[in-house]
Amino acid sequence: MAEVLPDRINVLLVGSGGREHALAWCMRRSRRLGALWCEKTANAGIQALCTACPEDVAATRNFHFLQWLTKERIGLVVIGPEAPLEAGLADAIATTGVPVFGPVQAGARLEGDKAFAKDLMRQASVPTAEGKSFTSMDAALHYVLARDQPMVVKAAGLCAGKGVVVCDRGGEAAAVIRRMMGAKEFGDAGAKVVIEEKLDGQELSVLALVDGSTISLLEPCQDHKQVGEGDTGANTGGMGAYCPTPLADEATMDAVVRDVLVPTVDALKRDGIPFRGVLYAGLMLTPAGPKVLEFNTRFGDPETQPLMVRFQGDLVETLWRCATGSLDEASFTFDPRVAVCVAVCAEGYPGTPRKGDPINGIPAAEACAGDGEEVVVFHAGTTRRKDGTLVTNGGRVLGVTALAATLERAQALANQAARCIEFPGAFFRSDIGHRVLKTASSKA
Ligand code: AMP
Ligand code: GLY
Repeated sequence: MAEVLPDRINVLLVGSGGREHALAWCMRRSRRLGALWCEKTANAGIQALCTACPEDVAATRNFHFLQWLTKERIGLVVIGPEAPLEAGLADAIATTGVPVFGPVQAGARLEGDKAFAKDLMRQASVPTAEGKSFTSMDAALHYVLARDQPMVVKAAGLCAGKGVVVCDRGGEAAAVIRRMMGAKEFGDAGAKVVIEEKLDGQELSVLALVDGSTISLLEPCQDHKQVGEGDTGANTGGMGAYCPTPLADEATMDAVVRDVLVPTVDALKRDGIPFRGVLYAGLMLTPAGPKVLEFNTRFGDPETQPLMVRFQGDLVETLWRCATGSLDEASFTFDPRVAVCVAVCAEGYPGTPRKGDPINGIPAAEACAGDGEEVVVFHAGTTRRKDGTLVTNGGRVLGVTALAATLERAQALANQAARCIEFPGAFFRSDIGHRVLKTASSKA
């Protein structure tokens, strides 16, 4: 029998970054929210909205943590990041009967093992880049050197968005393979690599809530993964995102649902994998239609920040319904305004970032919004010193998120607000959304 939606739900939010701050911020608006708990390690923005759970959440088989869930009458656990999903945290919590938003380990493999994802896509006829997996470095080297063409080399395991290198030549791909498989730059995550054809086109992030069978689309976003202006330089976890994007017209979204989401959810169901959480398709819009670059099994970071400032509905109820299999009864819409999130980063990112610098200017950034506009500064890599000073504590430090009538205006507002943020070595991309703004201005 279907579970009855409680009036008040005590929530534990797992994760400590920008995505989780945005989720906490949006859950705080819910009339169903009881107590909101977070991890001890959560950033300063999350801590300001939640009570810290005294137990070690990340240690998956922590009996004390599972007991604590019952003691505090937690009615929903929302798992933000991929690592605890891959480690089986949802499976462990499910043994207590507490609803969990986030897939079990077998479902999280869709993100955590790119070779597994490729196989599933092949079996379900989901359009994706042609690719081949290798566990032998020699075989991988032979493959790329025999094909001197643009290729993409991907570490098969989890690398926080950094284990993908787009290469123009076979020699370049060979050097990357030696780094991943020989020098073990990404540790075990690079023990297996996937080598793909390079696709050209616009990238699109389509996130959907999935309760095991019902699929409920969130609005399409575009992320900007490369560290430099104009999409140049190394890949990062994401330097900024905006939502909605005009790239995803109705026909494109229909194709994504029909050709990607439905067959993937069906394949998971057929394999007996209860998938309750976010299915995130990272897509390339090619002339032959949308093709999957990767799946994630969680909310995107930074896509969640623009999504949450636009989300209109009760997020706690929606996530609870997703976790309990009644997503078809959830209803939500999105603010018609456009949201742009700009990641303000610390010197050194995406390599080793400088940490511990005092952060100033958040109130000034939030005060930039004009009439009918909003600026929300989400924390990502931040913490508080014992004396209360807010300091940097990661590569992506803040997600400055602006909401305005047009993409052009939201981009300008987000940049103006990001310029108010001060810490030594702070940098950000000021061209988030440029790919469609350029198209729009060249058409004009
Ligand atoms: P992934 O983590 O697999 O999404 O890859 C990170 C980024 O690398 C993507 O957002 C794309 O910018 C790029 N990328 C990945 N796969 C391909 C591909 N087959 N062709 C072109 N670019 C790709
Ligand atoms: N923004 C990309 C990701 O969350 O993986």
